[in-house]
Amino acid sequence: MYPERPAGLAFGGDYNPEQWPREVLEEDAALMREAGVNLVSLGMFSWALMEPAEGHYDFGWLDEILDRLHAAGVAVDLATPTAAPPAWFVAAHPDVLPVTREGVRIGFGGRQSACSSAPAFREATARLVRALGEHYRDHPAVAMWHVHNEYGAPLGECYCEHSVAAWRGWLRATYQDLSALNDAWGTTFWGQTYTDWSQIDAPRFNHTVVNPAQRLDYARFSDGQHREHYALQRDILRELTPHLPVTTNFAGTVNCKSTDLWQWARELDVVANDHYLRAEQPDNHIDLAMSADLARSVAGGAPWMLMEHSAGAVNWQPRNLAKRPGEMRRNSLAHVARGSDSVLFFQWRASRFGAEKFHSGLVPHAGTDSGQWREVVRLGADLRRLAGVRGSRVRAEVALVWDWESYWALELDWRPSVDLSFRERMDAFYEALWREHVTVDFVHPSADISGYRVVVAPSAYLLTEAGAKNLHRYVEAGGHLLVSYFSGIVDEHDAIHPGPHPGALRELLGLSVEEFHPLRQDETVLLAAEPDAAGTEALPGRIWSERVRPAGAVTVRAFAAGPDAGHPAFTRHDLGAGTAWYLATAPVGGRALRDLLGPVLDHAGVSRPRGLPEHLELVRRGRHVFLVNHGDEPVTVEGVTGVSVFDGVRCDGRVTVAAGAVTVVEETPRTEGERA
Ligand code: GAL
Repeated sequence: MYPERPAGLAFGGDYNPEQWPREVLEEDAALMREAGVNLVSLGMFSWALMEPAEGHYDFGWLDEILDRLHAAGVAVDLATPTAAPPAWFVAAHPDVLPVTREGVRIGFGGRQSACSSAPAFREATARLVRALGEHYRDHPAVAMWHVHNEYGAPLGECYCEHSVAAWRGWLRATYQDLSALNDAWGTTFWGQTYTDWSQIDAPRFNHTVVNPAQRLDYARFSDGQHREHYALQRDILRELTPHLPVTTNFAGTVNCKSTDLWQWARELDVVANDHYLRAEQPDNHIDLAMSADLARSVAGGAPWMLMEHSAGAVNWQPRNLAKRPGEMRRNSLAHVARGSDSVLFFQWRASRFGAEKFHSGLVPHAGTDSGQWREVVRLGADLRRLAGVRGSRVRAEVALVWDWESYWALELDWRPSVDLSFRERMDAFYEALWREHVTVDFVHPSADISGYRVVVAPSAYLLTEAGAKNLHRYVEAGGHLLVSYFSGIVDEHDAIHPGPHPGALRELLGLSVEEFHPLRQDETVLLAAEPDAAGTEALPGRIWSERVRPAGAVTVRAFAAGPDAGHPAFTRHDLGAGTAWYLATAPVGGRALRDLLGPVLDHAGVSRPRGLPEHLELVRRGRHVFLVNHGDEPVTVEGVTGVSVFDGVRCDGRVTVAAGAVTVVEETPRTEGERA
């Protein structure tokens, strides 16, 4: 259920009126009108004002703000303020304060200072949310509910006494009997066999490595506790206002490791995501694109909401670079290109005090006589012109396998190499595809993937039997699968699949791995040129090498140097109507990976624009083609016919996008009588 209001695309952001005097609030309404703001998130950190003492609710101050916003034509995404429990509450219930893995109980003074499992927190949450919901159920400004703020960041796992009690309950419900748990966790290793549930603790800090299966389950459990805290609120709000959608903002799909968003998305009426650029990272718009594609994917392809990003600098990175002129616009429209029906910011007005006073806002400290404010006003106008995009879909022919459980498992301790990393491989493949102008979806290994021409599994370390069978069926039915090293190694309990690696994928890939040969920090190997393909070059590899033994697969490229010289490095296995490829190292640099990936995409018939410079981002959403020029030179794009949305100019087969600019073309055939 996507919010009905505002019509068109939503534009606005977090609004913190409690930090400002009345005269500023009056100015806010006028400025919001000037910029075309039509949605704000309100109340997110206002528990202390909404409930100044236990059971005493005060919504009078908020009524006035909602009324004023409504009069100004601004809809409200009303937040439950549970991410900021008040001082009186924490003082009365110090046991709600979370405990870190190292055993440190955090203090009051930040936010997210209550454990999702703590009974007092859950009870206070339920009372407050009911009072808020009852008070605002009929207020015409309220368009949707925004529960909490960024579950999972910074509070992922908690190790307090309430967490441990809930954890034991979770284990009993999951395993039913203790011998099943002992088997699943392999507790015969290091003599950890449990004979009573009460012996099981959280996987606290230890001077050596804690049982990885225990840690993996604790990650699942902890994420589930936050979801329970969310669902508690959502159910109350649904009961009171069944007509209003409920969401919570994800703490950045790609950058919040602790939340399994495949599971979270099922609990939300609309997916909402936050994304902050890593300011110093070159080409950081690729991370943005990845975050947006993952948001759309967990939303099942449905439009989602960009709930937060920044107008300019943030305040929490080592060096908080300001956005360059045009960058905010490119960022905003790139999210829309990839399926967002909103462009919302943290925050409306830059704060004068508190931890985030150096964070940008739509209204900067410099005021409205600033380049930033002029860009904000322009963006508002652009988004009104883009209203027709609302609800339309992005279609992808290629999918990347992304599974949070595998992410958690892969990055536990004592792996064959510290250079094995879920994100490193995922980023490498995503970036290669981005530079090839290929739009991708992300998929869970057990999802229906039959519609994709190519599926890539960058480092699917943890793969269940069900997931492996799904990939097998996909290939047999004609799919093209590319698997990278260290995939299909363990099951859902981080236990090695029986037999030679990669146990879950041996038959599908037509090979086995006799031994891993992780490389030294700066060591490289060489993938030989393809013997039968003219024009291919030898390519360097890093991080990984291994002894592959084909059993049905054919060698496309062998290692020409390194511990596995003369043995397969890149293989191909024709199976049923499809093909499974396997890559046993990390090609050095994006170009090398693209040299390997390109032929796979061609073989599978993946369509993509050719001859475009890399920095020209091209995404199709419904009838609209978004062209984002991240470079310093204008780019002419061929093959686009329609009307340019921002200036109404018709383009006939070619369009030029100025340096740093964004052009959106609505692809429509020329109507009769229309002049060129
Ligand atoms: C987000 C958070 C916001 C604000 C923002 C600053 O993670 O949800 O409340 O703190 O970061 O960049």
